[in-house]
Amino acid sequence: MEELHKSLSIVLFITCIAGAVAYPDGSELLSHKAIPQPQDFPSEQLYRSYLVIQRFKSTITSDPKNVTASWIGNDICGEATYVGFYCGVLPGRGNKLTVTAVILNGYRLHAPKLQGFVDEIPDLALFHAASNNFGGDIPRVVGLGYLYKLNVGVDLPLHTQARLGGRVGASPSLSAWCVTTTLNFTFDIGADTGKGRKFPGVTDAKALLLNHNSLSGPLPADLGYSKVSYLALANNRLTGPIPQSIGHLQDSLFEMLLLNNQLSGCLPHELGMLTKAAVIDAGMNQLTGPIPSSFSCLTSVEQLNLAGNRLYGQVPEALCMLAGPAGRLTNLTLSSNYFTSVAPACAALIKDGVLDVKNNCIPGLANQRRPAECAAFQSQPKTTCPPESTLVACPAAAAMDAAALGERKVRDYSSYVTYATLHD
Ligand SMILES: *[C@@H]1O[C@H](CO)[C@@H](O)[C@H](O)[C@H]1NC(C)=O
Ligand SMILES: *[C@@H]1O[C@H](CO)[C@@H](O)[C@H](O)[C@H]1NC(C)=O
Ligand SMILES: *[C@@H]1O[C@H](CO)[C@@H](O)[C@H](O)[C@H]1NC(C)=O
Repeated sequence: MEELHKSLSIVLFITCIAGAVAYPDGSELLSHKAIPQPQDFPSEQLYRSYLVIQRFKSTITSDPKNVTASWIGNDICGEATYVGFYCGVLPGRGNKLTVTAVILNGYRLHAPKLQGFVDEIPDLALFHAASNNFGGDIPRVVGLGYLYKLNVGVDLPLHTQARLGGRVGASPSLSAWCVTTTLNFTFDIGADTGKGRKFPGVTDAKALLLNHNSLSGPLPADLGYSKVSYLALANNRLTGPIPQSIGHLQDSLFEMLLLNNQLSGCLPHELGMLTKAAVIDAGMNQLTGPIPSSFSCLTSVEQLNLAGNRLYGQVPEALCMLAGPAGRLTNLTLSSNYFTSVAPACAALIKDGVLDVKNNCIPGLANQRRPAECAAFQSQPKTTCPPESTLVACPAAAAMDAAALGERKVRDYSSYVTYATLHD
């Protein structure tokens, strides 16, 4: 624990230093008309970032808070310039600053796409841009060339407050950021030198937080190869199925928020392979089919929300067992679907308020849909979901987790990274 705190304070120190050594008045050295040249930047990374930022800026069609007016000149890391961009010094690079975080929450920027922006800033570790309007697809997450891994302490989750980056009119200053930040992230010191010190309680993590945008189109089929740990895509207009490749995130994904989109198709069997995930929230979509039996492998899941979809069949016994001895489930929300029965083990969970099955088609339970509504759904043609094998092979990690301890621990909602960022 001592070691962990040291690593965090080192990093915050570095971040603050970065603010202090930012090149003051850099932009004023240049006439407004002059186009900054590579030698005007303290590092090649900053020059490359400059080119990417300017190209993105030229595509922005609406900027009601006039933030992009500050995106001029060569002083990307300055306090008053380049609102939304944060720099840091990375190990093995001397004192050279590079853009490590972009936080554009609530600026209501409109731009046709994020491709060519977020995926081309060289050392970006955190991109957080809720409440903007970036139409088009999700950036090529797989291509995100983070040189440095974003580390998030298990006990100190990455977490932003509304006032960070969301302040109207004011440009968030780096020094203020040092003081008020609740972004508890740290760069993996030593990653660059290959020594890669590991700190107890700290895991490698990457975050892509894009709630409340106007992202449309399908989730990339290769999403699962991105090694993302915190994926927040709530309140967009994403369509199509949850890709099967999602299963490849089994060692990295901690939280996934797909709430309130237009995702469709069957729940993929592979979703059940996410044995490290504490949050899986795909509520308010158009997902259909039964809950795959592989969901019994979700031994880390604490919050599972599939409310407001078109799911049917039985709420499986093995899923409800995850709230008992086999897992850590504290909130299983399946309301407003078309389930027709619950397994016996689920009954106690309904009573405890862990399982919400309101507004389904379950005979004998209160607060269900009208029979006519259920009959209408049942008579509709159904998407055929892949047949299920009766035997589920869970990843080894799930079995180990289950053997270790399945402790049900109710956590504060806002202690989850993705839920916390949802309300920024
Ligand atoms: C935007 O900001 C720039 C520079 O701060 C200022 O010159 C310009 O008048 C502002 N525009 C609007 C529409 O507020
Ligand atoms: C972030 O870390 C600081 C310092 O360790 C701690 O005081 C604070 O509570 C943490 N914030 C969150 C949201 O975890
Ligand atoms: C359970 O999850 C649902 C859906 O995310 C949420 O609306 C509800 O507030 C949660 N309940 C608790 C007690 O955390």
